[in-house]
Amino acid sequence: MAISDEDIQKVREATDIVALFGERVPVRQRGRDFWCCCPFHNEKTPSCKIDPSTQLWHCFGCGEGGDVFGFIMKIDDVNFPDAVRSLAERAHIDIKESGRQGVSSSRKQRLRDVCAATEGFYHSQLMRGKSSEAAAARSYLGSRGFGGNVPKKWHLGFAPGRMALVRHLLDKGFTADEMIEANVALAGDNGRLRDRFFNRVMFPINDPQGECIAFGGRVIGQGEPKYLNSQETPLFHKSSVLYGLDKAKGAMTSTGVAIIVEGYTDVIALHESGICNAVATLGTALTLQHIRIISRHASKRIVYLFDGDAAGQRAADRALEFIDESMTPEAGKSRVELCAVTLPDDLDPADFVSQRGGDALRELVDSAKPLISYGIERRLARHDLSSAEGRTRALSDALSVLAPIKSSLLAKDYAIQLAGRLKMREQDVLDALGNLQPPRTYSRSDAPAAQAEADAAPITLSESEKSRRRFERRLISLLAQNPQMALEHIDSLAQTQWHDPANGQLASILLDALEKNPDATPAQIVADASAAVPRAAGALTSATFSDGEDRARTISFLVEELEIGDLEDTLTAMNANMKPDAALDPDEREIMFAAAVELQNTLNAKRAAHKPIV
Ligand code: CTP
Ligand code: MN
Repeated sequence: MAISDEDIQKVREATDIVALFGERVPVRQRGRDFWCCCPFHNEKTPSCKIDPSTQLWHCFGCGEGGDVFGFIMKIDDVNFPDAVRSLAERAHIDIKESGRQGVSSSRKQRLRDVCAATEGFYHSQLMRGKSSEAAAARSYLGSRGFGGNVPKKWHLGFAPGRMALVRHLLDKGFTADEMIEANVALAGDNGRLRDRFFNRVMFPINDPQGECIAFGGRVIGQGEPKYLNSQETPLFHKSSVLYGLDKAKGAMTSTGVAIIVEGYTDVIALHESGICNAVATLGTALTLQHIRIISRHASKRIVYLFDGDAAGQRAADRALEFIDESMTPEAGKSRVELCAVTLPDDLDPADFVSQRGGDALRELVDSAKPLISYGIERRLARHDLSSAEGRTRALSDALSVLAPIKSSLLAKDYAIQLAGRLKMREQDVLDALGNLQPPRTYSRSDAPAAQAEADAAPITLSESEKSRRRFERRLISLLAQNPQMALEHIDSLAQTQWHDPANGQLASILLDALEKNPDATPAQIVADASAAVPRAAGALTSATFSDGEDRARTISFLVEELEIGDLEDTLTAMNANMKPDAALDPDEREIMFAAAVELQNTLNAKRAAHKPIV
């Protein structure tokens, strides 16, 4: 990596961490600190703390944390140098880079080149291919209304398979590794390269700037799998890519509205009928990341169009998980409104526009309801509202949609409406709302790593060992955030027998940093540590002082706690060596005994002086 430490430091100092977060998520001030809902897991109440004094952040829900660069690396999914570059640009700082074109950026550029060459090859195969398969691909697209200018505008293609692409790319000087990494070729059993896509119509998937980064391939006519998509590559992360965004972003910005559909063909059909603000997820569920990306362009409304078929309905149920407090008026500054509507009669958006036209689809989009009402309606529709039992079941089913926002005025409003619909007493429904269990905080997919780590370790550790490691972790974390407080205890810290090797590593990084520069900042220390120890950033940002806590006292207490523990360990070991059956020379035994007595006295004195903090 070729960015100098001075430049990194300059960029760090020029970046205000609170403002940086504020550009991406709503931030609220509480006391000295700032808080937001963690952008890295789905949560309803803010558990991510942003500390302007240390310029560090930490999420108490998922255990992630770090400095400004770590934040950009995670949220934009970029590597460290790219995070530095992006913050440098934001702060208008010129950074000098020796030997630019680092390995990773030039490697990614190669993969982009593979995708571009592949896209061009497939496109010319579709437009000019002489085989009967190519002709079938052309007529298939034509039969779906994708003739004329459509293949050119969307760079549609045809994959002949049978090594045609591999040969073409080899001719152009690409290596087997590059093709495999871009996921356009596979290594066969005999070690020979094969084309990944065979006899399919190809939809290039672009990044928001319009550069091809992946592909979706559809069988021509019937067949399984209907779609074959690129797997994750260094360029392509399904959870943050939307098909058609490069073409839709302008219309999203000008109208303030975005439409999300499920299929590639839906996006094309909508755009071709003049609805140019449509994008699709790539055969995966919508993620928070997708919503965040779209809301950068569409400031008012995101309308999720669900297919009328069973798969579409499952997607609709999953989308209800996005209901959270940010949708309530209490959240203050209004965020983009998430709306939903189901297409009628088992249709998908492409069928719908071809049968009923673009205007009918526009009307449908305008009729989309906020996700909360949409969810309630869906739940009510499952029950027979003409019977008392049906209405009771409908109530609990519908109310559960409100669980994540149960204490908001909005939830109460919906509850009262529900009472009317279900012919129940308002107060009963409000009581039922009040008694709802708050929903689980995490979905399975983002189970916090910190929790997993904590759950994994205890099986083999005794209670006292766990508590020792907790003290170690808390001390190291507090010291990393207040490095100057470590100076006072440097000798003791250097002698500590760290039980958790990771803590030992973090401690030695801290001590090294302070030795080099006694004024080292918390952010520098966290950055040094994350370079050496995975998950260091989360660990080092995890501990906090409570308000009014005597900080120096807490630090001394923890240092003493570890000293006492170390003395106890030494004493235990000495006593074991002096067991009556140990083969010891009598003189040696006597010397050891005296040493043990002395140690015991020191330990007793330390224990007496060690006052718990209250
Ligand atoms: N999909 C997929 N793999 C499949 C089926 C679907 O990845 N075996 C993804 C594709 O991204 C597809 C989307 O899910 O675009 C929606 O699926 P579907 O509605 O079945 O496809 P359409 O795009 O509507 O395609 P078509 O109209 O050609 O059937
Ligand atoms: Mn479809």
